[in-house]
Formats: sequence, structure tokens, C-alpha cells
Amino acid sequence: MSHWFEKIDHSTKLNIVDMGSGKGYLTFALYDYLKNQLRINVSVTGVELRENLVDLCNEISLDCDFNDLQFISKDIRDFSAEEIDVIIALHACDTATDLAIYKGINANAKLIVCAPCCHKQVRKDMGSKSQFKALTKHGVFEERQAEMLTDTIRSLLMEREGFKTKVFEFISNEHTRKNVMMVGHNTNSKKNRAKINDEVKQLKDSFNIQRHELEDLLS
Ligand SMILES: C[S@@+](CC[C@H](N)C(=O)[O-])C[C@H]1O[C@@H](n2cnc3c(N)ncnc32)[C@H](O)[C@@H]1O
Repeated sequence: MSHWFEKIDHSTKLNIVDMGSGKGYLTFALYDYLKNQLRINVSVTGVELRENLVDLCNEISLDCDFNDLQFISKDIRDFSAEEIDVIIALHACDTATDLAIYKGINANAKLIVCAPCCHKQVRKDMGSKSQFKALTKHGVFEERQAEMLTDTIRSLLMEREGFKTKVFEFISNEHTRKNVMMVGHNTNSKKNRAKINDEVKQLKDSFNIQRHELEDLLS
């Protein structure tokens, strides 16, 4: 994260939102790292559906005197904030990642950092008329294909909306297979929109994908 924070202006207080914060492992660690080690002025909000986890995290935050770290119980879909500078989402389930990215794009955030997980929506909406049917014949490959297609389309749509994207593995496969991280750095340069729309359409047509959640949200 320190690498990405070097790329954005943090001379004024940054509002960071962790979408699908769960038990807050990432939220607490990132807050402490940015605030107490890098001395960056931040306010961090965890957004989580499960109220019991939100209550627990707020209690721990109070105990730690983490005055600028708070958690709220809400569906990401219903979360709105005046200003969001950075969106993070670690393993937000399936389309919760699309919602997080969408909120970041909509808020014109400076940075979107997410590590997606369980790519069910595209897998479910992959039709039987794929040009590459042989590639998805076996369940294990179908799952991997759905994962690649979901995240490739996500990164293309982020590029279309002016975010320079980078996709990479952030941890060894020994620890988890869910180790793809997607970072979008807002350049506000919305070039190549038509070309990117064509690329998305081509991918969807080739694999007979009926819909993509992020594309629907953005339209
Ligand atoms: C796999 S957990 C990851 C938790 C945390 N980010 C971590 O890495 O430890 C995904 C979390 O996202 C939450 N979640 C899923 N969909 C959500 C939504 N639409 N709005 C808010 N939270 C959501 C779930 O309740 C769950 O706690």
C-alpha cells in the first residue's frame, strides 16, 4: 500500500473506505500502518453487512484509541459518502467487489485496491454457446476462466473510467489461491472508451457471457 500512497496526494486528510470489512483484519492493520507508521492523516471507515462484527470492531477501535477508525453496518450498495479518496476491498464476496469498484468510480476516488473472490456471477451467466466451449468443459477450468474473465472485464471497465490498472499476485499461492490484487489509480484520462467497449463486447460475445455486474452498475 505504501507504494500506491506515494502516487496520490495526501497533503489533506484522506477518506478511506474498506468495503466488506468483515472482522477488520485489514482495516485495523492498514489504519495503524498509515496513521502511526507513515504518519498519513486518514479517516478509515469499514462497511460491513454483519452488525455483530461492526459492533465488535467499533469496540476494539475505541479500546485502541483509534479515533479516526469507524465501522458501519450497511450494504455497500446503500453506502454513500460526500468524499471517498481510497476504496479497499479484500475478498468482498462475488459482486460485492463490483459494488466496491463502482462506488470508487462514482466517487471519483484517487485509488481503488481490491482482491476479488468467488466469481459466481459471470460463471453463472456464461452461456452454452461459447466459442471456446472446450476451455470450460471441466468445472475446474470453467471456474478459472470465469475468474479471469470477470477480473479482466473489471480492469478494462476501470481503465475506461480513467483508472490506470495493475493486476498482480500479492501473496504466494501456498497461502491462498485468492491472491489476485487489482489496483486502479485514477488518472482522470478517459481515452479509448470506444475501443475498450469493443474489447469488453468481444470478450462477452466469445464466451457467451450474458451480463457483467460492474458493466450493468456503470450503465
Ligand atoms: C470474505 S469476507 C472478507 C472480510 C475482510 N475484508 C477480510 O479480508 O478479512 C467478505 C465480507 O464482506 C461482507 N459483505 C458481502 N457482501 C456485502 C455487501 N453487499 N455489503 C457489505 N458487506 C458485504 C460479508 O459479510 C463478509 O464479512
